[in-house]
Amino acid sequence: MSRKVIIAGNWKMNKTASEGVELVNALKPLVADVCPDCCDVVVCPPFTTLSAVVEAARGSNIKVGAQNVHWAENGAFTGEISAAMLKESGVEYVIIGHSERRQYFGETDMTVNQRLKAALAAGLKPIVCVGELLADREGGNTEKVLATQLEGGLAGLSKDEMAQVVIAYEPVWAIGTGKTATPDVAELTHNFIRGTVRDMFGDVIADGLRIQYGGSMKAGNAAELVAQANIDGGLIGGAALKADSFSELIHNALKK
Ligand code: PGA
Repeated sequence: MSRKVIIAGNWKMNKTASEGVELVNALKPLVADVCPDCCDVVVCPPFTTLSAVVEAARGSNIKVGAQNVHWAENGAFTGEISAAMLKESGVEYVIIGHSERRQYFGETDMTVNQRLKAALAAGLKPIVCVGELLADREGGNTEKVLATQLEGGLAGLSKDEMAQVVIAYEPVWAIGTGKTATPDVAELTHNFIRGTVRDMFGDVIADGLRIQYGGSMKAGNAAELVAQANIDGGLIGGAALKADSFSELIHNALKK
């Protein structure tokens, strides 16, 4: 079954509004040839850069996502951003449960689940991140950890809601380290993730689910990763911060 590739750049805490506009303006002509029916190209800037990037990307084939969302509709949550705020800014996607949020900001499967439900209710398309630590992999616990993250994070979703969700598999030991999971290892793990989603939501949802790989994906390894049967794109950190490296990665990934 062929699924549309999705390549998303996670800018993390990089790029002011003017720097973000510069990056998107440089990226637009480089990805103008990417067929919108074959690939979703997404950039995920920090909150303060979102509106300017939405404006700069208007009319192009670049879509915009945020990096987090709060679960409440509004209220006394100093420093947080609601799904309605993102929606009104013109944002289409939102990353939820990135490992850096889990590691540094106390994100749990329960809060991932709450954020996910709020994002879906507002009509945002969530990119839900899962992934194991090096100790989990070395201890033979990868599948157990991923199953727990998926079962907790996706709990209580309807099939219609799950049809809107993208999963990003990001082994924590591969993020920003230059170590990539080999295509074989990544494929086995993606296959496990799809199987878990199949058990939870059935064949139609599992077969349609897009699962991105993330963790030191770059122009040089994108093609062989995305060529795997269960790898449907990438969530890219470092290599998404420059227009030429991000564009080269996208074009290589589509050569699969
Ligand atoms: P990286 O980051 O590509 O720099 O490893 C990926 C991510 O954290 O989403």
